[in-house]
Amino acid sequence: MTEHRTVPEMMGESDVVDLLLAQHALIRDLFDEVEQAPADRRAEAFTRLVRLLAVHETAEEEIVHPYARRKLDGGDAVVEDRLEEENQAKQLLMEMDQAGVEAPGFMENLALLRGAVTAHARSEERYEFTQLRAHTSEAERRVLAVGVKAAEAMAPTHPHPGTESAIKNVLVGTPIAMMDRARDVIRQAMGRQP
Ligand SMILES: [Fe+2]
Ligand SMILES: [Fe+2]
Repeated sequence: MTEHRTVPEMMGESDVVDLLLAQHALIRDLFDEVEQAPADRRAEAFTRLVRLLAVHETAEEEIVHPYARRKLDGGDAVVEDRLEEENQAKQLLMEMDQAGVEAPGFMENLALLRGAVTAHARSEERYEFTQLRAHTSEAERRVLAVGVKAAEAMAPTHPHPGTESAIKNVLVGTPIAMMDRARDVIRQAMGRQP
């Protein structure tokens, strides 16, 4: 896992469910980092968390949820519940981003966000991913992984020195701007597939 953490864009997983599970673990680690960061490093750690969340949730919305709607028993209901959780977390994330890490209440909001994101991830794993794996072939899950990997390449959690500036140019601005950019990249990557 250490290797994955330093170079997530090179993650070996080619199964979309494995990839998303690994991202859930990375998100948990980044919450730890933001919580534990000294005040002068908190903004930087928070930006990495926002970037990964933007990439992760956008990949799910673009790739996994639409597929789950079609493939799962009661897929629409499962996905609607997940989208509602995602939107709640996104709302809080945007407010926190706008207020900044220095704002009073940031750490309390971070704890709220973490609770919401963790509960949401657990629901995905329990109600969506398990079924998805049961109802899809390995080949299908490999195809779905392409878009997730393309998005993930934009959000290295601990980039190598020298690559950070290029990455910064790709995913900057508000969480909404990051999600828009991630969506473009995912659609391009999925569109290129035969
Ligand atoms: Fe999600
Ligand atoms: Fe997720």
